[in-house]
Amino acid sequence: MTLRYRSPGVYFSPRTRTFTLMAKSSMYVMRVDDGRNLEHLYWGEALPMEDDLTYLSIGNTIIMFDPVGTLTVPKILGLDELDEISDIQGLTDRWKVYTKQKNDPERGSRPRRLENASWRLWTMERNKGGDLNRDLGTETLLSALGEEEAKDEGRFSEKEESKIKKIPTSPTDGHPVPRAATPPFSFLPGPKTAPTSPPVPVSPMGEHIFDHFPKSAGTLTALTQQEPESIIHVVPSEPHDMSRTFPSVRDFREIREHPRHPEESIVNWNVLDPTMAGKNSKLFEFADRGTGDYREPSIMVTYADGSTVSPFEYIQHKIEKGKPRTPEYFPNVRVEDVHEATTLTIDMMDPVTKLVVRLFYTVMHDYDIITRRIEVVNTAGQPVWLERLMSATVDFDSNKYYMTQLSGGWARERQIVTKELQDGLTTFNSCRGASSHQFNPFLVISVGAPFSETTGSVYGFNLIYSGNFLASAEVSESRRMRVNMGVNPVGFRWLLESGESFESPEIVLSYSSTGMGHLSRQLHRLYRNRLIPPRWRQKGCPILLNTWEAVYFKVNHEMVCEIARCCKNMGVELVVVDDGWFSQRNNEFSSLGDWYPNLEKFPFGLEGTVRALEEMGMAMGIWVEPEMVSVDSDLYREHSDWCLHVPERMRTMGRNQLVLDFSRKVVRDYIFEQLDAILGCANITYCKWDFNRHLTEIFTSQEDWPPERQGEIGHRFVVGVYEVFGRITTKYPDVLFESCSGGGGRFDPGMLYFTPQIWASDNTDAISRVYIQYGTSLAYPPRTFGSHVSTVPNHQTLRSTSMKTRSLVAMNGSFGYELDPRHLTDAEINECLGYVQLHQRFRDLVWNGDLFRLRNPFHNDTGAWMYVSEDQHEALVMAVNVRREVGRLEPRLLLQGLGPGKIYEIEELCPGKLVRNVGTGAIELDPNGVYQFGRTLKLSGHSLMVAGLPIKFLFDADSVLFHLKLVSNYQ
Ligand code: GLA
Repeated sequence: MTLRYRSPGVYFSPRTRTFTLMAKSSMYVMRVDDGRNLEHLYWGEALPMEDDLTYLSIGNTIIMFDPVGTLTVPKILGLDELDEISDIQGLTDRWKVYTKQKNDPERGSRPRRLENASWRLWTMERNKGGDLNRDLGTETLLSALGEEEAKDEGRFSEKEESKIKKIPTSPTDGHPVPRAATPPFSFLPGPKTAPTSPPVPVSPMGEHIFDHFPKSAGTLTALTQQEPESIIHVVPSEPHDMSRTFPSVRDFREIREHPRHPEESIVNWNVLDPTMAGKNSKLFEFADRGTGDYREPSIMVTYADGSTVSPFEYIQHKIEKGKPRTPEYFPNVRVEDVHEATTLTIDMMDPVTKLVVRLFYTVMHDYDIITRRIEVVNTAGQPVWLERLMSATVDFDSNKYYMTQLSGGWARERQIVTKELQDGLTTFNSCRGASSHQFNPFLVISVGAPFSETTGSVYGFNLIYSGNFLASAEVSESRRMRVNMGVNPVGFRWLLESGESFESPEIVLSYSSTGMGHLSRQLHRLYRNRLIPPRWRQKGCPILLNTWEAVYFKVNHEMVCEIARCCKNMGVELVVVDDGWFSQRNNEFSSLGDWYPNLEKFPFGLEGTVRALEEMGMAMGIWVEPEMVSVDSDLYREHSDWCLHVPERMRTMGRNQLVLDFSRKVVRDYIFEQLDAILGCANITYCKWDFNRHLTEIFTSQEDWPPERQGEIGHRFVVGVYEVFGRITTKYPDVLFESCSGGGGRFDPGMLYFTPQIWASDNTDAISRVYIQYGTSLAYPPRTFGSHVSTVPNHQTLRSTSMKTRSLVAMNGSFGYELDPRHLTDAEINECLGYVQLHQRFRDLVWNGDLFRLRNPFHNDTGAWMYVSEDQHEALVMAVNVRREVGRLEPRLLLQGLGPGKIYEIEELCPGKLVRNVGTGAIELDPNGVYQFGRTLKLSGHSLMVAGLPIKFLFDADSVLFHLKLVSNYQ
């Protein structure tokens, strides 16, 4: 028998209430448990569709002191509305009416017997495949009732009774609590939305979920009879055929009663005992607070009565092709065709307050990637304070886990740090108002060992957000592990008035069973194809020269023209006028907010300089820092209340500037107009959007937001920034925006949604950049790295490296220059031109090829990596020696990603220039170039990957570059 795997999509098995999210070659599985929790079952490589994964629940157990209360208390199911239909004689409805009435003390014991009788008839009907809604003749019922009355009162065996006693009682002490109305999807209020993919019409199923609750196990029987009606809006089609029209209710009854696939008949319910599942060790998709799960929750709320207990129960779900709309300008993975993704939406509700959480899972069919986000909808009729909302909670089974994070600081961003998780919480976060230099919103879990590039299970979490975030991994006493990631609850308190909703940022979950390399390549492909603005997918950045490290604030028209004239000979296409061009901006003390050119420096306005450059065949870009204001500025003199501040308190300065309050519309509109004026006045084709300090005094004008909404300002600031980004990039689609934050302080997927590249670091030293770019590549594709060749000695490290090494390192990104070309000799200009041409020759391979990391500079003396074209016909291999001990030799470089049976010609490009005289030890220039092999090699991909490529470095910060070209295939 061959094992069958499902094609990508979302599958719901009504029998086991299991959702299977099938990605390209991996799978994510959860189910609605008997307490209506969403129980996480599995995330990993794809498993055969024949297997019913509910057996994984058996791993659950109760640990001493752990509450067991995951069962729904029948009383709170409430079936009040059924009073209205007591004249309906249908079997199912009868049963419901009696179910409701039997708890009413005033009615005595008869309704209970009626309920039992109708239940037995219902079950019989179901077992013989009959009509569950057929009219029930009074006679039939009475005879059943007669049998019932003849029997003993109790329906349960002693064993079953003893289990039932373990079920916690309802706080309402036996009286029915009105059931929360199940909100139809369309009733829920949502924020303003913009289409990302056309919604697919879906037909409501009208299927009763309690039809699918287990009927055989003792305790379950008693409870499941009383499950309320929940509408399953859409249930997916059968395996392998997501494109088929959705099946009807009848189809599902058919499937249930006459299973055609083994998957449909094997159900492990008989071995499950929900009372044996401690809430504190069970695996959940969404973790509540206050009912026995003592791990960090997914959500924290405070209700109007001051209570914080907030269990959520499954009420309905929907499966649709594509991806539903998201709020306008809210960054998320783009789905452009309904066939490339499937979205599962699950509504859960606090049965007492009626607060709804809506979980969205989008499976990206061509990737091992699922995105998640959460919307909280207040249907409670009373205000609710949201104090924490994680975009994803993922529980893992017990194991030895390692967590990898990208952390660092200014000029040392995204260094790879891995640690073994021990009992308790391991967290990293940002409270700085930006994703930050210090920690990136990216977390990796590897199983059993620190991640390897080529083997082992690794799980990636990347939050699409540019503000405060929290990432945590919690190992509980049972050694189960929970990952939480979302907006940082510190400083966050969101008031949800009745009818309002809140959207969490989206998170990207990725999985690889073959190590970190595959995980990164998945993310790279996704971000290139479905995150950065579509118009930049096929278009790269022009080769630019940025004036910052060349002249800092001293820019002016003449100088920009001179620089442009010089760097044109290097092959540069665009000059970016960085800081210093506007108002009185001669240093870092003034003028932010006054976005008009200084006419002494630029007497012809920006238009004049653009024109002059255009006459040379060059383009011009500009630097702005729109979220900031200098105290010494016209803007601040006029609107000193437009910055984040608390009246009466000091305003904390950072880089001598304050932060504008982007939570306020008036501020956003003003800044938008300023940007519009700059970009509208001249043909500026590139814009670097900077952000050079973090947030303090996060508080806003009471005119816009009242005291009870001040906890929203940190998030509203980020959303406000997104709005301005969205408006300006929509109005100027041909302007290439590069974001920046004191270098790489806001290098996150939220920014990539608007800007296809981000200045990776203010550190332009080639060796430092090897670490920074290698770390960044764990999550982000090289084409998004703003990466420039700068002068030597380097301005951040005072280190000198060769032009070759600086150029090769800069080629792993957008490529440009950050130096004064007026100080270069003709020979150096020529050398630069050579590297520009090299970059032009290979940029498609670097920007769109698959990246394979070969040697980790954090653990070795060398950083090495390679790019392979999708068809494996071409590859580019680079290695840079970051630490050298004289006389030590490098191990061979084992290549990856090649066709084993393909023969490649290996050519070394740009050989070294210096050689050591072995007689004297002196370093000498070799006019013939210093090659690794002295000739071209021809080898199979197999040998290159298994025996490897020998490399040798002669000097510190030396580097090598090889080009591999397919010449033939082995027969
Ligand atoms: C930040 C950026 C630099 C430069 C300066 C200008 O530090 O990262 O590239 O633009 O601001 O002030």
